[in-house]
Amino acid sequence: MTMGLRCVAIPVCGRSKFDTAFPRMSGRAVGAAVAGAAVVTLLSVAIALCEPPLLAVLQRTFSLHTAHLRKDMENFFQLVKNIVPALTEKKHKGQDGRIGIVGGCQEYTGAPYFAAMSALKAGADLSYVFCAREAAPVIKSYSPELIVHPVLDSPNAVQEVKKWLPRLHALVVGPGLGRDDLLLKNVKGILEASKARDIPIVIDAVSSPVDSSDDHASVLRLSQALGNVTVVQKGEHDLISDGQQVVRCSQEGSSRRCGGQGDLLSGSLGLMAHWALLAGLEKTNGTSPLLVAAWGACSLTRQCNHQAFQKYGRSTTTTDMIAEIGAAFSKLFET
Ligand SMILES: *[C@@H]1O[C@H](CO)[C@@H](O)[C@H](O)[C@H]1NC(C)=O
Ligand SMILES: *[C@@H]1O[C@H](CO)[C@@H](O)[C@H](O)[C@H]1NC(C)=O
Repeated sequence: MTMGLRCVAIPVCGRSKFDTAFPRMSGRAVGAAVAGAAVVTLLSVAIALCEPPLLAVLQRTFSLHTAHLRKDMENFFQLVKNIVPALTEKKHKGQDGRIGIVGGCQEYTGAPYFAAMSALKAGADLSYVFCAREAAPVIKSYSPELIVHPVLDSPNAVQEVKKWLPRLHALVVGPGLGRDDLLLKNVKGILEASKARDIPIVIDAVSSPVDSSDDHASVLRLSQALGNVTVVQKGEHDLISDGQQVVRCSQEGSSRRCGGQGDLLSGSLGLMAHWALLAGLEKTNGTSPLLVAAWGACSLTRQCNHQAFQKYGRSTTTTDMIAEIGAAFSKLFET
């Protein structure tokens, strides 16, 4: 099967000024319009690189009626279980996932750390962070478990990251990236190089054009307008669309929202996207692997939030949630 760039975009929660303008736009125009915010220029680059839906052959009719949603949830648990690689002694280090996080600058060091740790805690063998020079010592000092490359603001950033691409199974682009023009330019180059290697990409940088009157339709339209990129819209329920269907993740979380929660989602999604694509359509029962991966990462994030909230209530932070990943993962996908 030949595949183009596989992208998953995670819109951040909340309204944007594109709310009303969005539904009437289509194709590249949306990329350009959404690109009003500097960070989001990334998305338009990624979209331009994304090829039309690789899994379009698997289109099915999908009902958005609430009655079908509960059943989907049960099925999706099974599908996620199907893509999780078994832990065996025969494997070598790296086989279950080497995930790269592209982000981290002087101002933002927490986000790439959270994303990279979340991938590790969910079962990745290695997590790499490609960040700006000044961010590297800070991120390293948070954890000895991450491999940190201070290359993102160097003149040969793209070449430096390119050297590592053959080892990477997925890239998560955006956590703590900031808005610096040089970094964004380098990230464009990295996205292009990743496309050439067919590496799945999670982009965490999009303003969400929420039309609350019909969330399902709006997330579906967003995905289609982006060229059927898989889109995750976080909210009271998370909605995920690949342009053909919309699935809802209603795993119980909590009323507590803390900064960094989205980084847990993007890091674990990077890993699960790798697992799902590796497992393929047979294991996902014909459902788009990225849809399954996104649903898995959303459930995991919500379950971590739920568990951490049980212990810490109002004082729950993303660090507390990350500490719950192991138990949450077992509860959801290994029982
Ligand atoms: C797999 O697909 C078949 C046919 O669409 C469906 O009947 C079955 O419920 C699916 N199983 C899971 C676990 O999604
Ligand atoms: C996205 O999927 C929809 C529904 O299957 C299809 O009509 C549309 O042509 C696809 N868009 C692209 C850019 O391939």
